[in-house]
Amino acid sequence: MKKRVLTGDRATGSSYVIGAYIGTLKNRLELQDEYDTFIFSADYHSLTTDLDDSKKLAKNAIELVKTQISIGIDPEKVTFYRQSKVPATFELHVILSMMTQMAELERQPALKEKLAQGKKLTYGLMGYPVLMAADILVVDSDLVPVAKDQEAHVEMASDLAKIFNRKFGKTIKVPAGLIGEVVIGLDGKGKSGKSTGGIFFSDSTEEVRKKVMSMYTDPNRIKATDPGTVDDNPVFIYHDYFNPNVEEVNDLKERYTKGTVGDVEVKEKLFRAVEAFLEPIREKKSEIDALGDDHILDILKKGEDKVNPVAEAVLDRVRGAMGF
Ligand code: TRP
Repeated sequence: MKKRVLTGDRATGSSYVIGAYIGTLKNRLELQDEYDTFIFSADYHSLTTDLDDSKKLAKNAIELVKTQISIGIDPEKVTFYRQSKVPATFELHVILSMMTQMAELERQPALKEKLAQGKKLTYGLMGYPVLMAADILVVDSDLVPVAKDQEAHVEMASDLAKIFNRKFGKTIKVPAGLIGEVVIGLDGKGKSGKSTGGIFFSDSTEEVRKKVMSMYTDPNRIKATDPGTVDDNPVFIYHDYFNPNVEEVNDLKERYTKGTVGDVEVKEKLFRAVEAFLEPIREKKSEIDALGDDHILDILKKGEDKVNPVAEAVLDRVRGAMGF
């Protein structure tokens, strides 16, 4: 039997940033043949920050599936579903919450980040990693591809599985993370993401041009003839990720370091590379858009019919081990 990959996204936006390709989408694409891959929309997780926009979440979930299909994630191979349609998750969440230390939750870097952004500390936000552990454990996941910012959450899921197994006997599969890089924002700060911004798969050519042209570079370089640094320089970081022409990138780096190339040429070449990456994806996306939302809803429902029995069986084991 194939091992299971599981991952998901909050439905807080209707498209991914291209940085997500590096962090997790590429891994989904590469693993889909070898693994029984489950990909879900963490729609209830989105409520931790987007409660007022709950009506958007269903549509966003559909759009995110469309974008994944347009980059080559194949709905014939992968099981897509919505968290909210898998009720066993929420029962497991309650059980896991009984073995979660508050101190553990308080230390989570992702929580600290959200609080720093001014988000209210609800019970739901505090328990975010427990719900995520339930998502992971309820379908017997082996491997969880996420970007580095989610690594601690996957570790918590593994820890909770081990804690449960120590108490009640070996019942829950212990998953491992597959950690991708976090891509920084266009301004060189923080991470690029659905809520923090960046270049989106849904951006038009004009939008991509504008964003690339306004990217931050070496702040200490005033004139094109000043020697610049390429390390920690967003334009070169994006070149390394998205420009497959290594020779061109190396040439630009060399000239940038010497002060013999202007920002405009560096950005123009990055713009072209990003466009070459996005163009076939845009084309595929418009084909998928033409099939309509019902087509995606059918894919999701089929996925939910497959996932629910898997999750019910895991929950039955858990209940049994505890004597319920
Ligand atoms: N927290 C993840 C994110 O923000 C989304 C998520 C929720 C997830 N549950 C998950 C990812 C389970 C992997 C596995 O990106």
